[in-house]
Amino acid sequence: MSLRFEELDWRATPLGLISLRRRRDRSLDQDVYEIKLDEEFLMSSLFTVAEIELARLGLAASSAADLDVVVGGLGLGYTAHAALEDPRVRSLHVVESLGEVIEWHRRGLLPLGAELTSDPRVRPVHGDFFAMAGSDAGFDPEVPQRRFHAVLLDIDHSPTHVLDPSHAWLYEVEGLRRLAGHLHPGGVFALWSDDPPQEEVIAALAEVFAVVRAHVVTFDNPYTRGTSSNTVYTAVLESTEADRA
Ligand SMILES: C[S@@+](CC[C@H](N)C(=O)[O-])C[C@H]1O[C@@H](n2cnc3c(N)ncnc32)[C@H](O)[C@@H]1O
Repeated sequence: MSLRFEELDWRATPLGLISLRRRRDRSLDQDVYEIKLDEEFLMSSLFTVAEIELARLGLAASSAADLDVVVGGLGLGYTAHAALEDPRVRSLHVVESLGEVIEWHRRGLLPLGAELTSDPRVRPVHGDFFAMAGSDAGFDPEVPQRRFHAVLLDIDHSPTHVLDPSHAWLYEVEGLRRLAGHLHPGGVFALWSDDPPQEEVIAALAEVFAVVRAHVVTFDNPYTRGTSSNTVYTAVLESTEADRA
């Protein structure tokens, strides 16, 4: 039987106090894992439908036969785990700025930790996604300037409600161009957002990518007993003649 509430770990980080809690939700008869940053919820294992759809919709938008993928923000690992279900995925770099979150997975404190950390395709990268996106070297510390087939991003609440002001540039046209420079032709950028589809986000994406879609993902909310929704944007770069052949 589970304890009703357990704080599994907490640490002071440059972003604030991060904590991992497990609580027993008796009305739902399940354990709920939550990551909080100060008083703000970063992630709850109760709400994972759109995080999983981020991987499914993002990878479905790629026509490549083998996929090298970057996930921005490890969190509870649902996006990364869903990406691994696509048999085309041959490598998965998961960029996470908080070493504590990577460590929680390695220590098996989180439900998906053992599976994620034992999969040979997974490479946890401790670093700042935005700094890497803006750099020439990119997301693979071992292979500078490596290009990827897809980048799946779930870090900020939304492109206009960012966790840190230093993230905002990425969602502007020049930032998106910079990110696209780390993708192969035909590559996909998929982005999770807590907000409904935003015209300005679609317009910025359309300046850089050939095909842009905003998917509204609806899921049951056990607290409101109604439904809630998130948005997953998918944006696909023009492919070359050789890709189309
Ligand atoms: C909402 S969670 C990701 C949830 C994830 N999609 C899942 O399925 O569990 C966001 C994650 O991004 C991490 N993060 C915050 N700022 C970051 C940054 N600049 N670079 C990389 N990761 C960052 C947080 O520590 C957190 O683990």
